[in-house]
Amino acid sequence: MDTLAPDQATVTPEPPQQPPPPPLSKNAQKRLLKQQRFEAKKAEKKAQLKEHKRREAERRRREWDEALEGATEEERSRLIESRRELRRERMEKRSEERGRKLRRLEGAREGGQKVVIDLEFAHLMSANEINSLCQQIMYCYAVNGRCEYPCHLWLTGCGGEMGSQLRRILGFDKWLIEKEDGSYVEALQDQKENLVYLTADSENVLDVLHQKKIYIIGGLVDRNRWKGLTMKKAEEQGIQTAKLPIGSYLKMSSSQVLTVNQVVEIILKFLETKDWKESFFHVIPQRKRCELLSRDSSEKTM
Ligand SMILES: C[S@@+](CC[C@H](N)C(=O)[O-])C[C@H]1O[C@@H](n2cnc3c(N)ncnc32)[C@H](O)[C@@H]1O
Repeated sequence: MDTLAPDQATVTPEPPQQPPPPPLSKNAQKRLLKQQRFEAKKAEKKAQLKEHKRREAERRRREWDEALEGATEEERSRLIESRRELRRERMEKRSEERGRKLRRLEGAREGGQKVVIDLEFAHLMSANEINSLCQQIMYCYAVNGRCEYPCHLWLTGCGGEMGSQLRRILGFDKWLIEKEDGSYVEALQDQKENLVYLTADSENVLDVLHQKKIYIIGGLVDRNRWKGLTMKKAEEQGIQTAKLPIGSYLKMSSSQVLTVNQVVEIILKFLETKDWKESFFHVIPQRKRCELLSRDSSEKTM
């Protein structure tokens, strides 16, 4: 192979330099540090719990082996039979619970409060954020199934990337939930006047939940990078908007923008209790709230 003279050698161009990110303000630095500490603590707790479960399983196995070792043939059969019986009972209980859950979800499909999660924002999220949204939706479905008064959950905009990711969840195809490839405007076109987009940027404050209204939640994990996005979307579509009455009951240590699963959980708690204060206290973590306010009636309610 011919070697190139130094002046003939091809030079790989340097990749274009990315401009350095703008420096964070002091408050933003504090918030970031707080978030990082919280995440680290959460990971540590998760690891501790996992280790505790492993040790407990090991302890139970050891106890079982020891019990069998020192037992006569007759005692062994009795021990094994009672363990089988316990397992049977546990499985029966689980299957009864599953049956009750399915009946509740079927009931919600007939007359439950309609709540839509709008999944048309995948193109604005990173892979990690999409994954986090999938986890939140799984959580919403599980909490809804456990509730005494579940809501009638809809996932719209399932035709895109979010839908493909959700379909990878084991058992997703059997979920008792409405899944629409198109948008909520298409899926619920005959009820457009009842659509209410929930968004922290609305001027309207929710007072109660109306059975005939359909509340839409933006399926977005963005750390509010896309501020005002759902408000703009609803305005452009001529859809009513409303925010949760958080400011009337709580002072938050950061913004009033909640995650999708927190909003679903608050709605579910409110359907059960008809009490916003209790619903907020039940769902919003203590680290995110400062103090209780007396009810401020100056906000425009709907
Ligand atoms: C993580 S937030 C997304 C924030 C996003 N920047 C936006 O423009 O909505 C997820 C969704 O939860 C709902 N949400 C969050 N906080 C809310 C609040 N305080 N009031 C009403 N809805 C809220 C909204 O539907 C929102 O789109």
